[in-house]
Amino acid sequence: MLLTGPEALKSLTRAYESNRALPGFVAYNLETVQAIVAAAEANPEHPVLIQAGSSPFKHAGRDPLMRLALDAAKASSVRVGVHLDHSRDLDEITACLEAGYTSVMIDGSHLPFRENIALTREAVRRAADYGAWVEAELGALPGDEDVSTNASATTTAMTEPAQAAEFVAETDVDALAVAVGNVHGFTATPVRLDLDRLSEISSANPVPLVLHGASGLPEPQLKAALTRGVAKINVNAELRRAYLQAVQAELPKAIPGSDVVSIWSAGRDAVTEAASRIIRQLA
Ligand code: 13P
Repeated sequence: MLLTGPEALKSLTRAYESNRALPGFVAYNLETVQAIVAAAEANPEHPVLIQAGSSPFKHAGRDPLMRLALDAAKASSVRVGVHLDHSRDLDEITACLEAGYTSVMIDGSHLPFRENIALTREAVRRAADYGAWVEAELGALPGDEDVSTNASATTTAMTEPAQAAEFVAETDVDALAVAVGNVHGFTATPVRLDLDRLSEISSANPVPLVLHGASGLPEPQLKAALTRGVAKINVNAELRRAYLQAVQAELPKAIPGSDVVSIWSAGRDAVTEAASRIIRQLA
């Protein structure tokens, strides 16, 4: 069933209060949407979010991917939300809210502080009309959302705790994505989160924190983040890698020139397994 905004926010709050996190899994196409839902159904007690967002829209088209994710969530036997990841565009946000998204992320992290606040406030105003909740971002992550560039693990613009408190108070956002050493995609050297900074950010403001770039994060770091206010984690590269490795292994077995279904299925099953593992890690 498709989670409503208030239901998902309740799950987010519960996760926040019990040092757990909601997973937000990025989906690009039919197979990844199916895999995320299958993983949710294999772990029925844990709600998940399909992140059918801005960047995957460039691949699949906004309306087809939006519909696909919403229909799959509605048809599911378990609680699945649909979240707009990394949107910089208020029109896109309105379109997703109108379609029935559970939650949206307004990403003004590239803007000066005051402009980020103004943009985020407008997204919060729009989302309120639809009962959806809003995630915003303060600070900047290295790396790329769609390809793993083995980016350096050095974050140039970490989130400042005092600014985070001011930002949350002025925007009324429901969740805040932070830059504390986390990186989009895999990194050449293991990521080390600035856990003291994370604690300070969490103590300074009342909303759950979101950790983007969770792929490849060593498990102790992830667990430490969950005890410091992180209640949603975003995962993409880990699922892409599972998909590609399975496809690579399946290709030599497929009937040359004609068998594509076995390839897609192998990729989908591998993503299901990877997403299931992450759901269990967060429980
Ligand atoms: P990873 O690709 O590192 O998992 O990051 C995903 C993400 O943060 C999507 O918003």
